Amino acid sequence: MSRNDRPIGVFDSGIGGLTVVHALRQRLPQEEIVYLGDTARVPYGTKSHHTIERYTLQAGEALQAFDPKLLVIACNTASAHGLPALQAASPCPVVGVIAPGAEAASKEVGPVGVIGTLATVQSGAYEQAIRRHKPDAAVHSVACPLLVALAEEGWLDDPLTESVCRRYLNALPFEVKAVVLGCTHYPVLKASLDRARPGTRWIDSGEVTAQAVERLLKGSLGFRTASPRGSLKVLLTDASSRLQEVGSRFLGEPLAHVEVVDL
Ligand code: DGL
Repeated sequence: MSRNDRPIGVFDSGIGGLTVVHALRQRLPQEEIVYLGDTARVPYGTKSHHTIERYTLQAGEALQAFDPKLLVIACNTASAHGLPALQAASPCPVVGVIAPGAEAASKEVGPVGVIGTLATVQSGAYEQAIRRHKPDAAVHSVACPLLVALAEEGWLDDPLTESVCRRYLNALPFEVKAVVLGCTHYPVLKASLDRARPGTRWIDSGEVTAQAVERLLKGSLGFRTASPRGSLKVLLTDASSRLQEVGSRFLGEPLAHVEVVDL
């Protein structure tokens, strides 16, 4: 198989990363995607650096079996803690979601906010990446651990979710008008986030990552040409009973066949 027809491997701690797959399939429908979600060990957002890095390396190694042309770490937490290690170990290029989200944030005028898991916020990865583009950037980060559970519960546009969002977002200074959605789950909560902080520009790290992937394919990696619509293969380390319902919500289309694998 020619290199440009090889799949893109996408890794996440669970099924939230299907929001990134959604963005990739919208922008690059011809690409074949192999998605690996570590549902047996999710959440990563509460774990330590070494554990997240080790899990990321294991997932990256498992995806090599599909001979990918590119690996995308869809998980913000794994991107924050495991990207350099996986880039060093992987035979193919690896991108995370933080650099594209940070680049978009650095173009904003005025202070920016970042919301994510505890591990992502504690890593300081977004601040570092934003300041690489804009050294004097004012960045305010808030960990919002409850939002992952609310998104998985399906309470997307709900008064309770709105009130939780408001409580977290109130920790950001009033001057912050743009906020990076630094977690796979947050794009599905946009309606509640919007009502909690009207007028905010939400930077969807998944969407900007899909744009970054397109730029890479336009360069040396090449677009898939074998057929107009690439397939999606979903591998998970555990398949729970609500998987189809929750996964379809993140993917924005029915989640069909799922294969259970061991890492
Ligand atoms: N995928 C994670 C992220 O984007 C959220 C879920 C988790 O904590 O593992 O940070």
